[in-house]
Amino acid sequence: MGKIVRKEYLSQNIVELEIESPLIAKAARAGHFVIVRIGEKGERIPLTIKDTNPNFGTISLVVQRMGVSSSKLCDLKVRDEITDLVGPLGEASEVEKVGTILACGGGLGAAPLLPIIKAHKEAGNRVIVVLASRNKDLLILEKETAAWADELIIMTDDGSYGHKGLVTQGMQEVLNREKIDQAIVIGPAIMMKFASSLTKEYEVPTIASLNCIMVDGTGMCGACRVTVGGRTRFTCIDGPEFDAHQVDFNEVLKRLGAYKGEEMKGNEQYKCAAKKGR
Ligand SMILES: Cc1cc2nc3c(=O)[nH]c(=O)nc-3n(C[C@H](O)[C@H](O)[C@H](O)COP(=O)(O)OP(=O)(O)OC[C@H]3O[C@@H](n4cnc5c(N)ncnc54)[C@H](O)[C@@H]3O)c2cc1C
Ligand code: FES
Repeated sequence: MGKIVRKEYLSQNIVELEIESPLIAKAARAGHFVIVRIGEKGERIPLTIKDTNPNFGTISLVVQRMGVSSSKLCDLKVRDEITDLVGPLGEASEVEKVGTILACGGGLGAAPLLPIIKAHKEAGNRVIVVLASRNKDLLILEKETAAWADELIIMTDDGSYGHKGLVTQGMQEVLNREKIDQAIVIGPAIMMKFASSLTKEYEVPTIASLNCIMVDGTGMCGACRVTVGGRTRFTCIDGPEFDAHQVDFNEVLKRLGAYKGEEMKGNEQYKCAAKKGR
């Protein structure tokens, strides 16, 4: 159980929720995630911990309205309770002083990227950030990211803000001009696939945080399995961060689409019920 103490809209379909959870707030590190469930029959969905406040005993999650479960979460109000909140889960980010980091977030990826940027700054690294979104309205956490980044490059697909172009164009500009010691890419799987093939050309070691479908989050069900360097790994317990150059992104993309039919049906039903006020 976790009570929502603050709710803020970051864009039309993205909300930040601050939730009471003293034990998770104390234990969580950059890269960790939680699994939440809304309602006794609700689906379990994984969400990255964007921030913690151990003094107030709260954690912050950033949630994008995608289908039924994320919509239920986005529709909760301050003082509502989350039925189940389990975490921190996964392996924390490996953070050490390496030099210059190129941290790239696509869309909602800006949220999980933020605690990792902070951890790398605290470890003494120089951090260049590329944030990309489809348009200005979908760009989130610009100010918070700018407060930690040594340099922030904004890319929008339609050129409505920052530079016009994809995340990879912003990355390429940096890779062409200076030596990067490590890259981190977080965003939609297709973005991570292209971003990591770019850094491979430049021989820059790269970490990707995978958003595979999860069910139990404990390594038991196998839903989140992924092939990394020819070996089967479980994103929930071995990840979510992996060596991006070793990840079979085509398999990740295929598995993410496995339940599209059911997801669309469930979403339509939820929208209809919401319209009728049930
Ligand atoms: C480690 C990890 C961290 C994540 N962090 C965040 C975050 O901080 N904020 C955020 O908004 N989203 C995050 N996600 C994605 C989030 O879990 C999905 O958007 C959510 O589960 C969608 O469920 P739905 O019922 O609303 O949508 P659905 O309509 O059921 O599905 C929409 C899409 O969401 C993905 N998805 C569906 N069910 C799951 C599931 N059980 N596990 C993982 N992905 C699923 C699939 O790609 C699917 O096509 C994270 C995923 C992982 C694996
Ligand atoms: S979610 Fe079940 S094994 Fe990872």
